Amino acid sequence: KNIVVLFGGQSSEHEISCISAATIMKNIDEDKYNIYPVGITKEGNWRLYNGKTEDLSKDKWVKDSVKAIISPDATDKALIIFKDKGIEKLDVHIVFPALHGLYGEDGSVQGLLELAGIPYVGCGILASSVSMDKLFTKVIVDRLGIRQAKYVSVYKKEMDEIKEVVAKIESQLDYPVFVKPSNAGSSKGITKAHNRGELFDGLELAIKHDSKLLIEETIIGREIECAILGNHHPRTSNVGEIISAAEFYDYDSKYNDKGSKTIINPDLPRPIVKKIREYASDIFSAVDGRGLARADFFIEEKSGEVVFNEINTLPGFTSISMYPMLWEDKGMSNKELVNRLIEFAYN
Ligand code: DAL
Ligand code: MG
Repeated sequence: KNIVVLFGGQSSEHEISCISAATIMKNIDEDKYNIYPVGITKEGNWRLYNGKTEDLSKDKWVKDSVKAIISPDATDKALIIFKDKGIEKLDVHIVFPALHGLYGEDGSVQGLLELAGIPYVGCGILASSVSMDKLFTKVIVDRLGIRQAKYVSVYKKEMDEIKEVVAKIESQLDYPVFVKPSNAGSSKGITKAHNRGELFDGLELAIKHDSKLLIEETIIGREIECAILGNHHPRTSNVGEIISAAEFYDYDSKYNDKGSKTIINPDLPRPIVKKIREYASDIFSAVDGRGLARADFFIEEKSGEVVFNEINTLPGFTSISMYPMLWEDKGMSNKELVNRLIEFAYN
């Protein structure tokens, strides 16, 4: 069988996607699958990668690949690949979108694969787009009665009257507040505003990333994550904790800062862990999740309550990523995990 692993992409998480894809490709069962790595450049060119899997994390993957135009064809359940020398039809049996963020985790690539009639790993269009959009996730999780940070939404058209926006936020939330683009990954465009001046700056920055913003109260507490695997009866992992050296777990502290660490099975009361796992499973079902996701929570310091933060439908798959680590803790090797994810795509 032929498997296409999609990587790179136009989002701010391009580099992370390359590392995730390399980890995933190393763990695909090569007795069962021929692997076709297809990279998407930051500009949106699709390319067939011919280099080594180990080199994928480097900036040079584009040089080791050939330009291709890839078109879905549902009649053959194939991707038609137009290469320099002409047309080549590749029957693709499955796609693993190892992409994060915009045009990867938000339902758009999933839509393309639906058009091609090709099974793919992970969530479908709706679950992907709802989970990527922080405001829509809020609405759905509110319905489950699960606690979330209090929030105010801001739309681009309101930004013409930014003083009114600031007044609206200040009337509903206390500083410090988080300013977030509704659609963004790996914390890009997110800032923490401690006062009015920082709020103005944060709003100006965030609106460059999305036309819809979410301003949230700050929850002070521990950051706990839970992995989900499966389709209709998903399994949840134990939990992991993020210890961040920075004031919040932003892009730099996630991927560049050696001071941040992850702890699998941190010291927590059992009922709290149980509650987090139940919430993770309920939220996954509520957004119509399939295959995999990682749900992120806080345990608020002052109340001890569990507060939902976000759900990621294509969580990072690097060697320092929580998702594969949480399954290793359950006795599942990365090989087994990747192959299960592929199997879930068929069911
Ligand atoms: N968005 C990154 C890849 C994550 O959630 O792990
Ligand atoms: Mg995310």
